[in-house]
Amino acid sequence: MADLVYTVLTALWLFLPAYIANMSPVFVGGLGPIDGGRYWSDGRRILGDGKSWGGLLFAPVVAGVLTLVLDWLHSVVPWLEANFPEWGASPLVAFVMAYAFGLGAIVGDATESFFKRRVGKARGEPWIGFDQLDFVVGAFVFGLLFAGALAALGVTSGFWFTDRWTLPRVLVILILTPALHLLVNWIGFKIGKKEVPW
Ligand code: CTP
Ligand code: MG
Repeated sequence: MADLVYTVLTALWLFLPAYIANMSPVFVGGLGPIDGGRYWSDGRRILGDGKSWGGLLFAPVVAGVLTLVLDWLHSVVPWLEANFPEWGASPLVAFVMAYAFGLGAIVGDATESFFKRRVGKARGEPWIGFDQLDFVVGAFVFGLLFAGALAALGVTSGFWFTDRWTLPRVLVILILTPALHLLVNWIGFKIGKKEVPW
């Protein structure tokens, strides 16, 4: 039991950069749509107005900066230091990997919007499963690529990704993220911030 709780809490902790990046565009979005308002050959928008340059450029930076703050907290709060893994052996590694998870989250989300438009779903229309996991897949793919680059450059010793992302932790994120997503939306609906409970 204690093992499972530990796996769940450390997985959520390590995935915070992706969660932060995924929530940031509502605050830092803008600068116009990434697709420039253009249409695909099917007559629908390439990505749609929900994918903006501001989100793509700033959300990964927000994830990187807030992770540096959390990383600092980790170093000054003994309980955190004793129980939770650090994002990197140095602030540079922590920032780069948080940026990677954040960028992957945003690119994964935009990729999902591309396919969402192709199957004819309008901006904001739900696409259950895909809406919840798009950024998770993107974050893990970019995390793996950036971790590989840091290892190849000799910045990290060992392999950042597999040192932290054990299979149980990856499974925790894949299973809990859709549930958390639905919970947050349901709370938003209950307090009157959202029109639909999903
Ligand atoms: N957002 C943004 N830029 C991005 C991603 C998101 O500005 N690259 C903002 C938009 O205001 C968007 C909101 O964050 O409406 C929530 O993102 P999401 O739920 O993914 O977008 P939807 O509006 O639902 O659009 P889609 O149907 O394309 O997923
Ligand atoms: Mg989406």
